[in-house]
Amino acid sequence: MAAGKEEKQNQPANGVQVDLRMIRPGAIYAYDLFDEYGNMILEAYGELTETLRKHLLAMNTTRLYYDPEKKKSRAGGEEQQRPGVVSEQLRGEMLESAKDLLDSIRDNFNFSPESRLTRDKIDRSRKLVNNLLQEIDDNKDGMFNPLVKLKSLDQYDYAHSTNVSILGALLASKLDFSREIRVAMGLGGLFHDIGKSSIAKDILHKARLSDEEFDVVKGHPHVGYKYVENNPHMKELEKQIVLLHHERPDGEGYPFGFDHDHMVNKVPREVRLMSLCDVFSALVSERPYGTVHSGQDALRLMLNMIHAPYKTVYQFLPGDFRDFIRALGMTLNGGNFFLQPGDLVRLNSGEVAVVEEMNRLFPLNPKIRVVATKDRQPLKRQVTVDLIKNYSSYIANVFEKGAGKAQNA
Ligand SMILES: [Fe+2]
Ligand SMILES: [Fe+2]
Repeated sequence: MAAGKEEKQNQPANGVQVDLRMIRPGAIYAYDLFDEYGNMILEAYGELTETLRKHLLAMNTTRLYYDPEKKKSRAGGEEQQRPGVVSEQLRGEMLESAKDLLDSIRDNFNFSPESRLTRDKIDRSRKLVNNLLQEIDDNKDGMFNPLVKLKSLDQYDYAHSTNVSILGALLASKLDFSREIRVAMGLGGLFHDIGKSSIAKDILHKARLSDEEFDVVKGHPHVGYKYVENNPHMKELEKQIVLLHHERPDGEGYPFGFDHDHMVNKVPREVRLMSLCDVFSALVSERPYGTVHSGQDALRLMLNMIHAPYKTVYQFLPGDFRDFIRALGMTLNGGNFFLQPGDLVRLNSGEVAVVEEMNRLFPLNPKIRVVATKDRQPLKRQVTVDLIKNYSSYIANVFEKGAGKAQNA
């Protein structure tokens, strides 16, 4: 660690910085992490513990680096990316547009909301979303590869907006929504976090927020909505995405804290689906802090968030997640299933089972072998069930990868 500059060998040319003063303890990266001299400090998927963080800070190492082009899979080895659904050029243009939108709000506090989001800016974004939908149509087998080449912390919000826009348009297209809704979900994705531009950057990029700071962050949907509320060039659904993308059926969302019934009956399904796109993007993105997940891990985590066994009302509506995973599961995971044979799972009935064979069209209804009752009593006679024949049963949780191996043996 005390190596001199002359020993510098491995420092990634386009290294992304991880600021140790801002990182959340226990963060896990899908990348090998290096110090400024190119010494490897932590292998991909190792835990950046509080002890290690403090040790590095004591040694005056405030930043670690990783190469965004060398994402590792959990099994080791570099993750192979299949061709993306969107061209690099269009993605770059969308990133520019997101930057323009967010910066124009941040830089122009003296102007009225309407003058910050001019018709020009909205038309430009709409044109990009139309191009995006065209590329999605022309490239049906393309994968979603999140934007990874961040040069600085500031770029996180631009990249996230671009990712959510692509995810929204992709989801709307796969679900065969009307042209108008496809555009609204793409545009809504690009605009959804514009309210964050009113928040000081040091709060925005901080890992551990005080209650007061978190309250400021929680204001961003409302602030964003103020910018678009009376804008005649935006559609109602696009505005709703800005205002409601953090509302949750368990009542713990914001800004209103709607309950389950309100979410089901009053919040458009398209807005609820955008929330899933938002969460997925955050999980797989190069955040200034926290864990960067692979597509597969992010989907497994989302499944577990939704069906947390201790909750009776869930963070997302299970039906929304089912639509999301059916439409996008493989596209978000390099063309692979997000569950695998051998995975140990919990069914919505509470029973424990091992996945035997995936179902391409209904990823939450594979062929399984039930191995334990809902009280976790092992079954003497294990039964194989094809969940596609019993649609009221589905997978509600997945345990750690490989947990089913012992059960299999
Ligand atoms: Fe947001
Ligand atoms: Fe967001």
